[in-house]
Amino acid sequence: MTRPTDGSLDRYQPLVDDWEAFCEASRRREPTVFRIRTGRVEPDQLLARLREQGFRTRPVEGLDHVHQVVDEPYAVTFTPEHWAGLLYVQQASTAVAAPALDPRPGDRVLDLCAAPGGKTSHLADLLEDTGCVVANDVSEGRIRGLLGNLYRLGHTNVLVTASDGRRFPEDALFDRVLVDAPCTGEGTLRRRGGDPPEQSRGFLDFVTSAQDELLRKAIRVTRPGGTILYVTCTFAPEENEAVVDAVLADEPVTLEALDLPIPHAPGITSFEGRSFRPELEGAARIYPHHLDSGGLFLARLRKEGEATKATADGWSPVPLRFPGDDATEGEAGELVRLAQRTLRDYYDLDPAVLDEVGWLLRGGRLWLHTLDAWPVQGWAPGSWRTISAGFRAMEFDDRGRSRPTNDVLQWLGSRLRRSVAELDDTEVDRLLDTGLLPSREELMGLVAFRWRDVVLGRGACTDDGIRSAVPKARAARLARSREVMREAAGD
Ligand SMILES: C[S@@+](CC[C@H](N)C(=O)[O-])C[C@H]1O[C@@H](n2cnc3c(N)ncnc32)[C@H](O)[C@@H]1O
Repeated sequence: MTRPTDGSLDRYQPLVDDWEAFCEASRRREPTVFRIRTGRVEPDQLLARLREQGFRTRPVEGLDHVHQVVDEPYAVTFTPEHWAGLLYVQQASTAVAAPALDPRPGDRVLDLCAAPGGKTSHLADLLEDTGCVVANDVSEGRIRGLLGNLYRLGHTNVLVTASDGRRFPEDALFDRVLVDAPCTGEGTLRRRGGDPPEQSRGFLDFVTSAQDELLRKAIRVTRPGGTILYVTCTFAPEENEAVVDAVLADEPVTLEALDLPIPHAPGITSFEGRSFRPELEGAARIYPHHLDSGGLFLARLRKEGEATKATADGWSPVPLRFPGDDATEGEAGELVRLAQRTLRDYYDLDPAVLDEVGWLLRGGRLWLHTLDAWPVQGWAPGSWRTISAGFRAMEFDDRGRSRPTNDVLQWLGSRLRRSVAELDDTEVDRLLDTGLLPSREELMGLVAFRWRDVVLGRGACTDDGIRSAVPKARAARLARSREVMREAAGD
């Protein structure tokens, strides 16, 4: 197989079931599709809220909680619902991957190439915020985007790590591993008006060897009987069937045929004079015309051996203090009690909400999570870093007072029953403009701002007024949303 570097897709014509439909869909603008964050909102409630604003949507057949926008008064990313993490804009094709890995609540899942987190978030949602999802990526820049998405969507069961996946620690095994491999991205051509990306010969060689190494690593960190899903968003057999064919030759895995509930084509068994194992027909190819979306390749592998739950080896309960943190166990416990008291006393939280979460002290701040265990303490030191576990929830000042972060208030949302400044549209615009609202007698001290049932963040009420502590960048994004919404309403 000699692959052209000019990005031309003509060589795929013999593979594609309907070439004309493929070319036509590739040139057309891709419709906006979003997935509902089911752990945070009832799907019917979210759809009703969007309808009230003038959106028309329809479900994408075969994909639970995935909807296409048919009519929009403004982009769905400008809605308060998006802002509050109740939905994630995602290509329909990529929303096929997480369900195909079939994660179950309580599972330990590794997403080896996770940023910016569309599939991580989907996996975490399917786990119902239980178990543990380790979301790893090599790129620090892309991890920033991953964190932004995870915090906005309020995922509490995700541990983010930075490492070259080829050198990921092997001390703890996972029930399921996703390899959403770096690839030539031919399937994202609709974002470029139908033009596939040009590639250098060097990149083509690099990417296929990286894919091979990442998939072999994924197999090594999967428990016996566990599942591995290999995914790319490209059409090239060199990056798809050829990579899977090579590992089937000498790794302890078998290919499990995928039975997807959406239109797709089977994997191929020959291309340009090269043959692949017949079982590769059980892989899946999604072309742009299948879901009116992007391109995707998926192959699911089962690791040989007894089907047991993840071996306990290498996994341990998440401690109260991050390994190596300066605080003592007693100090950490005291800070947790202080944090719980603040949340209960100010916001009248139902104590049951706090019983469901764990705390982790790192660098003087408390992180909130629902991880039932983590692999970090079993990992030998190496070229990996732990970036975050759940999200940062409580901070402490020099006078020993604790303050909730904007993320935790947003996550608590409607569960905040006191100290909430409910804002109308005029007040939210004024808050975003000036950062200050007139004080309200019943709200002295810490407050949370809530607008259209969405918590915007923290503030403090004194005799001088209620001052916003919503960070400038966050407020600026919301201000832009308000501008767009007002324009759409003709104000
Ligand atoms: C297709 S994207 C992943 C998309 C992501 N899974 C999602 O659904 O949003 C591939 C990712 O692989 C990462 N990557 C590339 N080489 C890697 C490596 N050696 N180890 C880990 N991640 C790598 C890239 O930084 C990129 O974020």
